[in-house]
Amino acid sequence: MCGILGCVGDEVSSVLVRGLKRLEYRGYDSYGFATLGDSGIYVVKEVGKIGDVRLPSSKLGVAHTRWATHGRVSRENAHPHLSCDKGVAVVHNGIISNYLELKRELEEKGHKFTSETDSEVIAHLLEEYLKDHGLKDAMLKTVRRLKGDFSFIAMFEGVEVLAGARFGPPLVLGCGSGENFVASDVLAFIDRTDDVIFLDNGELVILGKGFYELFDLDGNPVKKRPVKVAWEVADVSKKEFAHYTLKEIHEQPSTIPRALIQDDGRLKPFLEALKGSPIYFVGCGTSYHACLVAKYLLAKVLKKPAEVILGSEVGYYSELMDGGVLIAISQSGETADVLKAVRMAKAKGMKVYSIVNQVNSTLARESDHFLSINCGPEIGVAATKSFTAQLALLELLVMGVAGKRPNLDGIGEAVGSVMHDELMKEIAERFKGSNDFYFVGRGIHYPIALEGALKLKELSYVHAEGMAAGELKHGTLALISDGTPVVVINPKDETYNETMSNAIELKSRGARIIGVSDEPSSVYDYHVKIPKLDWYAYPLVEVVPLQLLAYYMAVLRSEDPDHPRNLAKSVTVE
Ligand code: F6R
Repeated sequence: MCGILGCVGDEVSSVLVRGLKRLEYRGYDSYGFATLGDSGIYVVKEVGKIGDVRLPSSKLGVAHTRWATHGRVSRENAHPHLSCDKGVAVVHNGIISNYLELKRELEEKGHKFTSETDSEVIAHLLEEYLKDHGLKDAMLKTVRRLKGDFSFIAMFEGVEVLAGARFGPPLVLGCGSGENFVASDVLAFIDRTDDVIFLDNGELVILGKGFYELFDLDGNPVKKRPVKVAWEVADVSKKEFAHYTLKEIHEQPSTIPRALIQDDGRLKPFLEALKGSPIYFVGCGTSYHACLVAKYLLAKVLKKPAEVILGSEVGYYSELMDGGVLIAISQSGETADVLKAVRMAKAKGMKVYSIVNQVNSTLARESDHFLSINCGPEIGVAATKSFTAQLALLELLVMGVAGKRPNLDGIGEAVGSVMHDELMKEIAERFKGSNDFYFVGRGIHYPIALEGALKLKELSYVHAEGMAAGELKHGTLALISDGTPVVVINPKDETYNETMSNAIELKSRGARIIGVSDEPSSVYDYHVKIPKLDWYAYPLVEVVPLQLLAYYMAVLRSEDPDHPRNLAKSVTVE
């Protein structure tokens, strides 16, 4: 849940600051840098988002952007953490589960701790082992003592090298010309090099200006060649947009068609798997909503049931899940709850198929087969373009099992036609003072109602509830009063008449209806027009105006849509 970066070269100060800003999507409650100067390790730490930081000139340094897990948000708990002698600085991502025991042991040896974090033990352990060992051995001895899921980078006074270790969260080595990098994500250094080596779990690295050495937990060399990262990964600018979130919403006319371009050989095992049973889908947040759409697709197209389980709930189904196929959906491929589910399924001998955006992620590597939604980096914390890309790929798969291809030839244009920025801004202006919003839909549109509500909550902090329209009368209707905004997702398909009845019921109780439909109606206070499409393609165009609504609500309420409070892009803790 944090972002870490280390650089070594001729002059890295501005590279560190720029790179860390690109990692802010991973966490942004505090940040810090350490650089190496003539008088030792120089540290800057602050609470909040990365401001206008000016670091002294340095040939190497480390940086960290935090999403607090152990210890509150404070300057003391921000990384880097130093050893007692200030000779080691460490930035860490993940969790050291045995830190209390290690801390006690180190305190007994006289070490003084200055933070409440689990991370600080790494700096003190390294200091302890460096008394009698060289750097590589000190690293090995340190990681052998740590339990949990972690990756970290360390720097050392008086030595122009960095050391890193991966035992869980991702760590990538960037091999530049006269400079090297190590970071949680390629994005941190993509403007300097696209030659990278993805460290596997249990691997360590020592890097200097013109060299790097990879080794395993036994100290044996690991031989790996750098690979080039795809051009899409390099596309990390906001272009003319005010925020990444808005840019990513507007990218969907091109990202959705791209998700449909898949290699037949890679599709084949998925098509076979979907013929089997039982089928379990697992995901969290927005990816869970994509799983719910898949359930409707399977029911209607293949007449097959599927279980959809939240990543965090899979453990409670362990008796039930014994055989069959697990399809895991995750943009980041690093969501801890999903990974736990996958490991549980694999331990039971189940085959795991995953749908990811990050092809080098842990999920992709641990799955028997994976497919990429191929939508390029999603920097905005809220999932937008990755959701519609997941849906498009699921449509391709489910239709593929039925021996058909989804009719999505003009989908890019259709999605372009629902970029109703002005209308959604007007609706946001009208309802920006509302405390509660409701989103309703039936059938395949119900997950879109859930997604619309999730986007609004996380971007604008307005309470919102998504629900199956037919459920209103079982309780929630009691909350509708004069002026309550309700988004009714109502395309002209088999759900239309019943959803329209719900809209009329809502209106008669004072609700203001925002109707998302290809058919205008006097019931709607605002009509958000979508094009007429095949039933399974409607979700792709319905959700886009809802993303825009959430975005403009955030902006009009003076919130930062790219960095919603308390959230992070990849949730690598359970
Ligand atoms: C919502 C959002 C989250 C993620 C969830 C799963 O906008 O971004 O709900 O969808 O944390 O993330 P992935 O798909 O990376 O597993």
